[in-house]
Amino acid sequence: MRPKKGKSLRKWHSHFVHAITQPNGFGSYDTLEWSQAPDPVAAPGEVVITIAATAVNRADTLQRIGKYNPPAGSTDIIGLECAGVISEVGVGVTRFKVGDRVCALLAGGGYAEKVAVPIEQVMPIPGKLSLLEAASLPEVACTVWSNVFMTANLKQGEWLLIHGGGSGIGTHAIQLAKAAGVRIAVTAGSQKKLDTCAALGAELLINYNEQDFVAVIKQDIGGVDVILDMVGAKYLEKNIDLLNRNGRIAIIGMLGGIKGEINLQALLQKNGTIHAMALRSRPVSEKNEICRAVERSVWPWIEAGLVQPSIDLELPIQQAGEAHRMIEAGEATGKVVLVVNGDL
Ligand SMILES: NC(=O)c1ccc[n+]([C@@H]2O[C@H](COP(=O)([O-])OP(=O)(O)OC[C@H]3O[C@@H](n4cnc5c(N)ncnc54)[C@H](OP(=O)(O)O)[C@@H]3O)[C@@H](O)[C@H]2O)c1
Repeated sequence: MRPKKGKSLRKWHSHFVHAITQPNGFGSYDTLEWSQAPDPVAAPGEVVITIAATAVNRADTLQRIGKYNPPAGSTDIIGLECAGVISEVGVGVTRFKVGDRVCALLAGGGYAEKVAVPIEQVMPIPGKLSLLEAASLPEVACTVWSNVFMTANLKQGEWLLIHGGGSGIGTHAIQLAKAAGVRIAVTAGSQKKLDTCAALGAELLINYNEQDFVAVIKQDIGGVDVILDMVGAKYLEKNIDLLNRNGRIAIIGMLGGIKGEINLQALLQKNGTIHAMALRSRPVSEKNEICRAVERSVWPWIEAGLVQPSIDLELPIQQAGEAHRMIEAGEATGKVVLVVNGDL
């Protein structure tokens, strides 16, 4: 594969690294191949990270099948987060130096031996975590903190409902909410996932395959103050129905469809708010704000042992296809980490 210079005027070293690519185009798991890819150069304001590990996100599976394009100017290599060691520093970077161990939120490029990333999206490794553990954090920490705390302004003593409580996002959200003194209700599709949610601090556990979550919440706690929702259209009306006065819904996924109908009267009467956000396409300045807030607010909880990485499985990067299969089948509880270089 020849380095693609693309529209972004990005530069590459003359040799290659390895990365997961799709030389035969979008498709199923077997389209993912560990092969040669361009070796990135750190542009001004960027660092290059030699990657120890990355982690799988739902969005990666959509990109694999051609339904989630990277933002303009980004690499088309899959992978929204990583941890590793800085191996090159671009002009103007002062915060980190070559040899520093870091993790980073990426617009793409995590499934590779090296990635170039704006310094704004790079964070130190929190506490005593290994690089493999830290690789599981940037996407969940930045998504949950920005949506649930920065935007929905979740406060101590409130009730948070998390749909998909056993997901990578859900298992992290439970821990952050618990650390913040919030009460937590979750929905999940199996007892195994609910058991994990309970161990992490969720109080009200609902198996959506066996129970009507609206009825259970109304009966047990009346309603909730904030909802972190990844189901979208299918749950929209139910979510509004469950809101307490001044309630907030943060929609981050559309696993249950993209088009729904809002009963504006119901929302209005509760003085309710609906936010919908995609982290990947946010400008670097906003990612900077989020990463700094995560360092200030989430990293101390990790250092204090209140929040931990929630990792179901580690697989070698060459088995990215199997990791995608597991995520699509809903088999994972928490994150699946892909190990690129375990010696770092
Ligand atoms: N907007 C953003 O910036 C952003 C950032 C990160 C992630 N996300 C989104 O957040 C969601 C979770 O991401 P993740 O990487 O943590 O994914 P994940 O670990 O694969 O978890 C997704 C979970 O959703 C549940 N699920 C799947 N289909 C469902 C359905 N139709 N109804 C109800 N639950 C369903 C599954 O759990 P059960 O077995 O319990 O059904 C599964 O564990 C994804 O939709 C992802 O795209 C958005």
